[in-house]
Amino acid sequence: MITEKLHAAFVQQFGASGAQYTSPGRINLIGEHVDYNGGYVLPGAIDKAIFLEIRPNGTNKSRVFSQDYNERAEFGLNETDKPQQPWAHYVFGVARELIKRGGKIEGFDAVFTGNVPLGAGLSSSAALESVFAFALNELFACGVEKKQLAVVGQMTEHHYAGVKCGIMDQFASVFGKKNHLIRLNCDTLEYEYVPCELGNYRLVLVDSCVKHTLVDSPYDRRRESCERVVKAIAQRHPQVKVLAHATWDMLKEVQSTVSEVDYRRATFVVGEIKRVEKVCAALKNGDLEEVGKNMYATHQGLSKDYEVSCEEVDFLSECAQKYGAAGARIMGGGFGGCTINLVKSESYDNFVEKIAKDYTAKFGLAPKVYDVKIEDGARVIADK
Ligand code: GLA
Repeated sequence: MITEKLHAAFVQQFGASGAQYTSPGRINLIGEHVDYNGGYVLPGAIDKAIFLEIRPNGTNKSRVFSQDYNERAEFGLNETDKPQQPWAHYVFGVARELIKRGGKIEGFDAVFTGNVPLGAGLSSSAALESVFAFALNELFACGVEKKQLAVVGQMTEHHYAGVKCGIMDQFASVFGKKNHLIRLNCDTLEYEYVPCELGNYRLVLVDSCVKHTLVDSPYDRRRESCERVVKAIAQRHPQVKVLAHATWDMLKEVQSTVSEVDYRRATFVVGEIKRVEKVCAALKNGDLEEVGKNMYATHQGLSKDYEVSCEEVDFLSECAQKYGAAGARIMGGGFGGCTINLVKSESYDNFVEKIAKDYTAKFGLAPKVYDVKIEDGARVIADK
């Protein structure tokens, strides 16, 4: 078992025992690139997670061992003590962000491992941030409230990893609930749990196994496009602070004052926000075909208007349609990674077989297929 191996590694590294925690990766049914625009998203935590064993060590130095990289980082907790290893920046960042919020964090020993596929769009980094935020907050009695733990993870990305992400991934990782999706208002952080009742359908992820690392931080460029449009709208409607506050009419008013590309990006976002509403209603009515239709529409928008897909993932979405999936779309930040597919149980085997065959024939690469179970968020596994 993963937690037993983790414990064995902890004993080997530090000759003692610690408390064990876990925090998961996430899926997002709909509402992509909407979080940093203040709209609703519909994520859920999954049964793939980061596992951590940790204890305070009574010094002012921290020692953290990554089982998967087989590397150990040692660092202090002042701003100037940033460790060398890129993976350790996340741990350091989380500790720093907790300290900035008044947490009295001292040295700790930690070992972590995980089974969240990397680069697949399942938010392995949010899982890592959330497990450390949750554990350090408990171990050092920082008293930081749960929503702020998600913000700690998000700010770690902004300040220590250089990605200006939204709040969705960390929120899902901290607040996940078994068999439920989270309908999260990313503007106010109000949320409600929505039962993930799929009836005769299943969610399946198909991993393209490609990750196009592009120069020029395309994620941040998308965000900037949205911000420029908000600025233009706010000149006439000062109450509009994020795209989620804008109507179609407001968007049209500024069409001639913003660039064609920025306008196109913004139309995707406003349309996507509407789709989240439609999907929530359809889920309530048990209309899974309607959910699926919206997923395809999202894919079109992400591919053609927001331009965050790629040839491989477009192909996976087209194959899904060909083999009868009710819905399929690229998931997460984009430029590779997974599609999320809604597939009828009886066509599942055929779907998986055919899509894998076609993808391999075209790209010479076997896709990975993950069944998704919706699980609880950050939690303690064992106090040692
Ligand atoms: C990444 C970011 C999230 C969100 C998604 C797109 O996963 O970390 O904040 O913006 O992309 O929906």
